Amino acid sequence: MNTILPYDSAVGHVTGEAVYIDDILVNEQLLVGRVVYSLHAHAKIKSFDLSEARKVAGVHAVLSYKDIPGHNQMGPVVKDEMCLAENEVTFVGQAMFLIAAETLEQGLEAEKLIKIEYEPLEPILDIETAMLKGSLMGPPRKIECGNVNATLKTAPHVIQGELRTGAQEHWYLETQACLCILGEGKEINVFSSTQHPSETQALVAEVLGIRRNEVIVEVKRIGGGFGGKETQANHVACWSALLCNATKSPVKIHLFRDDDMIMTGKRHRFLTKYEVGFDDDGVLHAVKFELNSDGGAATDLSFAILERAMLHTDNAYYVPNFSVEGRVWKTNLPSNTAMRGFGGPQGMAAIETIIDRIARFLKKDAIEIRFKNFYGSKDRNVTHYGQTVENNRLHVIFDQIMKSAEYEKRRKEIADFNTQNEFFKKGLALTPVKFGISFTTTFLNQAGVLVNVYTDGTVLVNHGGTEMGQGLNTKIQQIAAAEFGVSPDRVKVNATNTSKVPNTSATAASSGSDMNGMAVKNAIETIKERISKELAQLWNEKDVHHPSILSSIIFKDNFIFDSDHPERKISFTDAMVQMNLCQVSLSSTGFYKTPGIGWDKIKGHGKPFYYYSFGMAVSEVIIDILTGQHTLLRTDILQDVGKSINEGIDIGQVEGAFIQGLGWCTTEEIKWDSKGNLMTHSPDTYKIPTVQDIPKDFRVKLLEDNPNPVGTIRRSKAIGEPPFMLALSVWLAIKDGISAVGNHEVEPEFSLPATNEVILLSIEKLKMKVRGAI
Ligand code: MTE
Ligand code: MOS
Repeated sequence: MNTILPYDSAVGHVTGEAVYIDDILVNEQLLVGRVVYSLHAHAKIKSFDLSEARKVAGVHAVLSYKDIPGHNQMGPVVKDEMCLAENEVTFVGQAMFLIAAETLEQGLEAEKLIKIEYEPLEPILDIETAMLKGSLMGPPRKIECGNVNATLKTAPHVIQGELRTGAQEHWYLETQACLCILGEGKEINVFSSTQHPSETQALVAEVLGIRRNEVIVEVKRIGGGFGGKETQANHVACWSALLCNATKSPVKIHLFRDDDMIMTGKRHRFLTKYEVGFDDDGVLHAVKFELNSDGGAATDLSFAILERAMLHTDNAYYVPNFSVEGRVWKTNLPSNTAMRGFGGPQGMAAIETIIDRIARFLKKDAIEIRFKNFYGSKDRNVTHYGQTVENNRLHVIFDQIMKSAEYEKRRKEIADFNTQNEFFKKGLALTPVKFGISFTTTFLNQAGVLVNVYTDGTVLVNHGGTEMGQGLNTKIQQIAAAEFGVSPDRVKVNATNTSKVPNTSATAASSGSDMNGMAVKNAIETIKERISKELAQLWNEKDVHHPSILSSIIFKDNFIFDSDHPERKISFTDAMVQMNLCQVSLSSTGFYKTPGIGWDKIKGHGKPFYYYSFGMAVSEVIIDILTGQHTLLRTDILQDVGKSINEGIDIGQVEGAFIQGLGWCTTEEIKWDSKGNLMTHSPDTYKIPTVQDIPKDFRVKLLEDNPNPVGTIRRSKAIGEPPFMLALSVWLAIKDGISAVGNHEVEPEFSLPATNEVILLSIEKLKMKVRGAI
């Protein structure tokens, strides 16, 4: 298989020919949809008046909750999210009214004429206040093994602490967008930028009060999702559908960047409390965590995200006595949602902090502590939730990256540099990632496809996943081509469409190609079996049902032949013409469900993950002690993707995920004011990484010769999220650099993100501590 087939839309992205929602051609009846949202974080809606707004020329509809024909509800799991606010608003950015107008200007004019009378209420805007007020989103969760409290009492050393990790904006290039066009009768076509077309379909049907077989959701490509369109693309879809239904015209909503940032949820901020017991060698005896997540105003995916965080507080380390409790707190902010890593980063940051602190306490290099605590291959290999870490690659990756990154040598050079330089300090850190692959809600681990072969020998694959830039469609094209033994240019991957493949799961949890790839293989096997039987008959094979005859018929290089009788050979295209004449069906659905997984959420025990993806990174930074500014000098990454389906795409995913993680760890800081207004709502106040921020020397490698031993498609591994968390190496390298200010004698205080401000304040505090001033 060609493992460097270029990304299918690469040229289209550059020329502008790749079609996004905004590029779909619609007739001149197209109306512009506008969402009017709450300006209060918490308030009663005493009254509103839409009459003046409705009079504006060019305005076709102004809707409130009263105009919703179906249910006023768009909660994806828990039904606690209204489509349009009724009596109360619970965050700034909550949708209240919808406007459809011929032009944007008319819509804005109408918006100004809407009269609303609010009665402001006290908002809850942070986790601490929510905790004080007991504002829980739902019951706490707990996972436990061994005897934590007793071990903490007897452990040679105990450290306690707290870690704050920040929210993060998805910053997809295409903001939330949806176009709706009515069909005949109740039919509605929804062109959405959603990671979860089936859920979008279900919710549109629900708000319109129609059935799901009347709603077709289509997704050609998403201009980046990163989890932000797993549930929250449903919102714009429901709003567009309501306007489309009310006006009987096509309606498009494409949020402005600022509105998108104000209205949609982010990565959950966490406040984590911990206590760890360890010995003189730095071996972990017991760890106790309390995770507190800021859920925002509604449940959304908060509990699944909390769960993944709780399942990743071990990261790569074996802890015999472990307890992790988790709570989601309800605040008056937009409902926080999925974002790359899905709680994993928050969980891993907590244990990596602990490891770093132990190293500083024992005055050892953190890699020593890491190495000592890595999961073992034969023993010390059971997680706190009872899953055995099989096919552990931590040691092979560690050995390779320690050498390729020249860790020991650079550690010495950095120490020398730091003694010679007062105003610049360098820092170095290695961090590992062990990321569980599968949705932890087990039934979601399923995928369906529909594969059609046409009589000109071309193949059309419809699968349930969505293409959001991660290269899923290119991988699917390669998989289908390899299974049929035809060149990839014969295979086209269709837009995802709920009428072709129903009841799909979201494209998330990094498992898009794992699951859809296997379902494609399943469908193609069905079609190949039909073709093989027919060809065997045509070629006068005796027992056409005998398995060996079927397996002797080979699909390769655009031909089909009998390996026992090489003269029996037909081109793939001729064979398809022949099959059609013989009345053989050349179309099949395919299905896949991940085997052998399942766990008890209540007990917190079992096997939630099919396998683990591993990776490690070594990062080196230099810090300007007088300004707090840092530069990422070099990052080495070694990532396990099993046997790569497409190396170019996989390396792109590693680089992209790492850089997005870098943003979370360093410059991306979300701030709200005391009234719950988002202060960082545009690129001038919210800093995502740019080309200036990527490592000056960036060395990304995929682990070689380690195909995935569990039965994944072509022995590959998921790649979309795991490398995100490798950016923790930068965060801890910065901490290491700061600590050099005090010659590593005193530990700096530290939180995440390590913004310029955090770094500088941390340096100043450290200097005072060293001088004995505090
Ligand atoms: N890569 C790009 N370019 N754009 C994206 O939106 N989303 C990430 C990751 N890589 C994303 C991306 C997230 S959050 C996930 S879960 C996976 O891709 C989803 O796709 P996959 O399951 O096919 O890997
Ligand atoms: Mo990814 S956060 O699972 O969409």
